[in-house]
Amino acid sequence: MSKISAAITAVGAYVPDYVLTNQILETMVDTNDEWITSRTGIKERRILKDVGKGTSFLAIKAAQDLINKTGINPKDIDLVIVATATPDMKAAATAVFTATSIGAKNAFAFDLEAACSSFLYGMSVAARYIESGKYKKVLLIGADKNSSMINYEDRATCIIFGDGAGAVLFEPNTDNLGLQDEYLRSDGAGREFLQATYGGSSFPITPEAVADGRHYVFQDGKTVFKNAVSRMADAAVEILDRNNLTKQDVSWLVAHQANKRIVDATASRMDLDPNKVMMNIQRYGNTTSATLPLLLSDYESLLKKGDNLIFAAFGGGFTWGSIYLKWAYNSKN
Ligand code: COA
Repeated sequence: MSKISAAITAVGAYVPDYVLTNQILETMVDTNDEWITSRTGIKERRILKDVGKGTSFLAIKAAQDLINKTGINPKDIDLVIVATATPDMKAAATAVFTATSIGAKNAFAFDLEAACSSFLYGMSVAARYIESGKYKKVLLIGADKNSSMINYEDRATCIIFGDGAGAVLFEPNTDNLGLQDEYLRSDGAGREFLQATYGGSSFPITPEAVADGRHYVFQDGKTVFKNAVSRMADAAVEILDRNNLTKQDVSWLVAHQANKRIVDATASRMDLDPNKVMMNIQRYGNTTSATLPLLLSDYESLLKKGDNLIFAAFGGGFTWGSIYLKWAYNSKN
């Protein structure tokens, strides 16, 4: 029997309607369009404003987009994973509510949290289920409502993050398309440089913590930046080297969109032509778990069967890594 590999066979996406531009941010904090654009590459980001709607709202919309595009029956989905750093609630998994809402009645579901690497790690997990031969359709959704944990008076974070979701379907492939190799790492020493301190089990939320804003995301941008540049690039180069891939072999770099300068530095270490680098940070900012599938959705029409995609991500924790995947279909668009 031929070896089963895990291929991405469909993509869906959703971003909320409200557009938070750099010009609007100029009226909220001491910043300006020129600084944000030159330091990050971001021009605008989407924000989910509706009261009472959480990450599951974004995840459901992205999954429904995928289902509508492909016509798959949700009852055939075996597993729903929601990769997210901003779950709807503490105790009830966002993925479970999402799966039920899209009609995936026969699926089991769980959340996966690894900050901005959540979707990358999720690809690894989804692939293992498919490769086992036991599961045929695994829906991996990357979704984050970052605006729920951002202090819009802190210019070090509020200019970067946005809300959004993307979904991919993993299915078995016997033509050696799909996930080929992965290099995933983590380092807990990074925790102090990027975190929302209060609201978890170490420091439950208190009125004092809320008054001080210690439930919001805090980051030491410079330290995160330095680690992101070196570790994301190291991981991507490692994946190239051990798969004997040259820069000519690479069709696309699909890199986490945290800062355009981080993506450019990774591409430069790989010696890649800039037109092989997927980029949409200018429109969405950093959507955490959603950046990789949103890139796939935006570039889907350009992807061809057999294309070599190198994924790379870096996030809080620290978490990071790179995945080599062969694209499995030609777009119908
Ligand atoms: N608008 C205008 N000026 C700002 C600003 C803003 N939004 N934020 C910071 N500044 C100022 C600083 O006060 C500082 O001024 P000073 O030189 O007078 O002291 C100057 O700009 C440089 O600040 P610095 O923090 O060194 O900027 P930076 O070049 O490191 O860029 C980040 C800041 C946050 C954009 C950058 O560090 C970054 O992208 N880090 C990684 C973020 C990330 O990836 N996070 C998610 C993990 S995946």
